[in-house]
Amino acid sequence: MLSVAAPARQSDSYQPESLVDRFGRKITYLRLSVTDRCDLRCVYCMSETMKFLPKNELLSLDELDRLCAAFVNRGIRKIRISGGEPLVRRDIMGLFRRLSHHIDYHRLDELTLTTNGTQLGRHARELWCCGVRRINLSLDSLDADQYRRITRRGDLKDALYGLDAAQNAGLAVKINVVVLKGINDHEIEDLILFAHDRGADISLIETMPLGDVGVHRADQYVSLSAVRESLERRFTLEESSYASGGPARYVTVKETGRRLGFITPLSHNFCESCNRIRVTCTGTLYSCLGQNNAIDLRAPLRASANNQLLDHAIDAAIRDKPAGHDFSVERTAGRAGIDRHMSVTGG
Ligand code: GTP
Ligand code: 5AD
Ligand code: SF4
Repeated sequence: MLSVAAPARQSDSYQPESLVDRFGRKITYLRLSVTDRCDLRCVYCMSETMKFLPKNELLSLDELDRLCAAFVNRGIRKIRISGGEPLVRRDIMGLFRRLSHHIDYHRLDELTLTTNGTQLGRHARELWCCGVRRINLSLDSLDADQYRRITRRGDLKDALYGLDAAQNAGLAVKINVVVLKGINDHEIEDLILFAHDRGADISLIETMPLGDVGVHRADQYVSLSAVRESLERRFTLEESSYASGGPARYVTVKETGRRLGFITPLSHNFCESCNRIRVTCTGTLYSCLGQNNAIDLRAPLRASANNQLLDHAIDAAIRDKPAGHDFSVERTAGRAGIDRHMSVTGG
């Protein structure tokens, strides 16, 4: 990991600028992982026997809040809270309450989260009160046994209860489905009809080789080009110009009138339009999900009460942002392309 030396002389004239990388990409979307823990162990995300960080290594709520404020000052307009499962962090609503001020004062366009839904029954209404309007909810199967197998311990009822709670609280929901060969690929049409019938959008995702999950990735991977072809035999898919600021390319399903997104990091790389960076729960900034380029923000955050050191570290990370990932299921012989799990970087 790169660590950034303090500038030789801290000049008062240093004016932090908005975040534009050397390829001219403007960085406006921060994905912040607030915990590496989760109440589930999805087969594409974690191994059965994950070791989690000691809680004292995590950034405190005050530090997360300060970090987000620093990024908002640098032109970040969208913050997605992720994990692990963000809602298993005990004090997490305190962070949402604080971040809601950026929404109130129009310094942020969107505050949102990606969740497995199991804790939404407790938190959905308060999320709405904190300015959250749209959430992404992972739901990979509608079959209770299959759902338990994919999550290695989850109860489908909890996720569906969470979905209800979110919608009753007025939150728009996008359902995320990681398509897995021979596991849920036969359920895709049902999942689309279920989501659209419930008034939710849905995105299909190609599994990415992140971390050793105990199975060969090639055994899990399905190209969404093939899935799309097969869906086109059943539905009329109309190109849509809708963009959420994330990597999904959307179509509208004519028969249901709702959106279907395709997230295709392997079959159609979308790195050239990348607008995002990730910060882990220990304050490491990864400028690309699929590379190891990283900069520690925790030391500069703790070294000084003003943000000058932090801003320098952020600048260094943006300078170091790679052109894109080079994930390949084949090249890595089906094993992990990147050593760290998705739950570390937060998706
Ligand atoms: P929207 O705001 O709804 O567009 O969300 P999103 O797609 O940015 O976020 P979400 O947390 O729902 O992520 C969906 C999938 O996209 C996850 O599997 C993410 O890991 C993946 N994803 C998000 N950003 C990137 C990226 O920069 N590169 C790659 N390879 N995958 C990404
Ligand atoms: N490949 C693709 N998507 C993944 N997710 C977690 N791990 C992977 C992976 N290896 C998805 C989750 C969630 C989102 C944040 O990332 O299902 O929807
Ligand atoms: Fe937990 Fe999400 Fe990873 Fe599943 S994908 S184990 S729900 S962090």
